[in-house]
This record gives sequence, structure tokens and C-alpha cells, in this order.
Amino acid sequence: MSTPELLKVKHTLHDLTLPEEVQRTLVEIAEDHEYEEALVANGLVPRKTILIHGPPGCGKTSVAHGLAALFKLPLYLVSCSNVVGSTLGTSEGNIDRMLKSAYLNTHVLLIDEFDSIATKRGDSEDGAGRTENRIVNTILTSFDNNRPRGLIVACTNLFERIDPAIKRRFDVILEVPLPPQSALLKIAEGILKDRFDISAKEIVMNCSTPSDVARECNRRLRLAIVEDEKKNRGKKEEIKRRERQKKIEQALNVPQVDKQPEPQMALRQL
Ligand SMILES: Nc1ncnc2c1ncn2[C@@H]1O[C@H](COP(=O)(O)OP(=O)(O)OP(=O)(O)O)[C@@H](O)[C@H]1O
Ligand SMILES: [Mg+2]
Repeated sequence: MSTPELLKVKHTLHDLTLPEEVQRTLVEIAEDHEYEEALVANGLVPRKTILIHGPPGCGKTSVAHGLAALFKLPLYLVSCSNVVGSTLGTSEGNIDRMLKSAYLNTHVLLIDEFDSIATKRGDSEDGAGRTENRIVNTILTSFDNNRPRGLIVACTNLFERIDPAIKRRFDVILEVPLPPQSALLKIAEGILKDRFDISAKEIVMNCSTPSDVARECNRRLRLAIVEDEKKNRGKKEEIKRRERQKKIEQALNVPQVDKQPEPQMALRQL
């Protein structure tokens, strides 16, 4: 298994347009962190394990980045496709190690594609079925016996596939749904910032997710910047060409064609 990879934090929560309910939950998590001592003194634990679900491109991974920024913690990513091994016991060992990193270090551990390791246990007694069941049992035992020092944030597009016993062990289950058009418009306007006369409304009409909006806005900005740069370069080239021409003419003592003689001078010359 590859060890958790340190990521550069790309978003703050302020960069994201999120439904009020999601924002409220994120504030609650932040307050748990802020008032941890008071909670512990009263026999309560701060919420530190978060399962985020929702359709692709709506901000699940971005929320994990935002939480790392808010808590000022390093963000580590585990890709579940690297966790599952082919030999007996490899996957359980990998998962155990992955979760231990969150119990020993104060960081945000982002587990992406969580559905690929936490699928519902089934009755299937074939090799794959038995491995899946053992993986789920490993996660359950691990969660029951430990608390992370920072946060564990697991993300999935396939919430219904997650084993119910695993879902129940998360402190917070957060749905990041497909936002309405008004939110998409706000996202587009936030990226475009009134630059280059690009219409946010027109972009949003052809997009259905924040990710689509971000991609299209950035594409249009790139086109506009390149177009602008081409024009500027054209102007700069023209100025340089004229300066070169002027120098040549001065060197050859050629009268400046673009300099009209002043009227008085012209009379005196007559
Ligand atoms: N709520 C949002 N507000 C502003 N921008 C957003 C939002 N959600 C997504 N984006 C933009 O879309 C990009 C992709 O979002 P992100 O990777 O967080 O989606 P995801 O839900 O994790 O998708 P996937 O399920 O495919 O992993 C982000 O980098 C960001 O630019
Ligand atoms: Mg994601």
C-alpha cells in the first residue's frame, strides 16, 4: 500500500458555496474543536469522523480541504484503490495501518472512494466476499477502539453501498447535494469576478455541477487572457517596429515623415 500522501490544501471553506445545512454542520464541527476541553470535561467527545456523500463534482473533496484549512492541519490522502491487496490479510493490514496514522498523528486523513473498501457485508462465501467482510470488520473494530487525533474524512458517491454498521460509527454524516442554479451562478460569479465581460448566466445554463461550472469558467478565462495577451503582444510588436524604423531613419538622416513642420517655421522658410 502506498502511504498516505501529503496534499497541498487547495480550498478554504469560504471558497465554497454550500447549502445552509452543510455550513451549519461544518460550524458545529469547528466549534467542537474550539471547545474540546469543555466537551471532554462534560463526558462528551468532539466529532472527528465525517462521512461525506453526494453526487460527483459537488464539493466533497473540497470540503475536506476546507476543513484542513480551517483546523490548520496537514491534509493526507489515502486512495482506497491502493489499499486492497490480492493476498490474504493484505487489505486488512493496510487498512489498519491507514487508520492508525490518524490515531497517532494530528492531521486530516482524507479517505477517497470509501465505497470501494466499506461495501455492505454480504452472504457471499467466495474469496472476494470473505475479504470484503473481513475489511468491514477491521474498520468496525478499529473505529470502536480508537479516536483520531485530528479528523478522518471519508468521501463517497455511492452512499447506499456503504455497510450500515460502518455508517453508524461515523460521528457526522454529511450530504453535499447537487446545488440549485442560483448556487451555481454564485460559484460562477465568484470565479469570474466580473473579469473580461464573460456571462456567468450563460455558463451556468449549460452546466449541472459546481465542478462543470469551475471548469467552464476557467476555460473561458484562459481564452480571454490569451486573446488579450495576443492583442497586447501585437501592440508591443508594432511599437518596437516603429522604434526600430525611427532609429534606422535617424542613423541615415532621413527626414521624419510623421513630423509636420510647425506653421511659423514653414512661413519663415518661404
Ligand atoms: N460547492 C462548491 N463551491 C464552489 N466550487 C466547487 C464546489 N464544489 C465543487 N467545486 C469546484 O469543483 C471542483 C471539483 O470538486 P470536488 O473535487 O470537491 O468534488 P467531489 O464532490 O469531491 O467530486 P468526486 O465525487 O468526483 O470526487 C473543485 O475543485 C471546485 O473548483
Ligand atoms: Mg472527490
